[in-house]
Amino acid sequence: MTRLPVIAIDGPAASGKGTLARRIAQALGFAHLDTGRLYRAVGLTVLKRGEDPADPAAAQRAVEALDLSLLEDPELRTDRTGGAASKVAAIQAVRDALLDFQRNFAAHPPGGKGAVLDGRDIGTVICPDATVKLFVTAAPETRAERRYLELKNQGSARTEEQVLRDIQTRDARDSGRTVAPLRQARDATLLDTTHLDIEAAVARALEIVRAGLRT
Ligand code: CDP
Repeated sequence: MTRLPVIAIDGPAASGKGTLARRIAQALGFAHLDTGRLYRAVGLTVLKRGEDPADPAAAQRAVEALDLSLLEDPELRTDRTGGAASKVAAIQAVRDALLDFQRNFAAHPPGGKGAVLDGRDIGTVICPDATVKLFVTAAPETRAERRYLELKNQGSARTEEQVLRDIQTRDARDSGRTVAPLRQARDATLLDTTHLDIEAAVARALEIVRAGLRT
């Protein structure tokens, strides 16, 4: 059986990787998995139980009892949940528990054409043999501005300075952890979206992906 194409998209918070992944999947007719939502759902479970997301035992209990309906919870996208997600994501047992689900999605994507996965360790750990790997980034201030606008639309009162600090804390935690740290895979193409609007970034990403699918 021939292997289906897999597109791996990694990058730091609010780099635009989620939107790019969704748009690439739409353009190619591939299935899309936003893996950050899985970690967010685990983080949110711990918060809803009134427990500490940095506590390995609490995080493990949460991932073992994960209720996938939480993926639709409006609280999933808040900054508080993002912070909790990055704490549970540093725990090896949590990553191990989510590994098979992600690899299975990549190997057997709904629709059967191909898969786009976005996250922090898709090109390095989850799908090291992905057909195309993109590492999407942007200056921290640009990412903070984008996330600030997204949160404001949700009714959040956080200031742009607070959002920048949240992003910097999360970047440091995601890049500094020992398990599956955020880093660019050696064979990933870097896409810096600091000076690209979303349409320009999508166009450039699709060029890279289509070229990679042809080779
Ligand atoms: O949307 P945003 O980039 O802010 O975050 P996300 O992709 O929803 O991920 C939330 C958190 O989950 C990140 O800060 C990471 O700590 C963690 N995560 C991870 O460790 N590995 C992944 N493949 C995806 C997310």
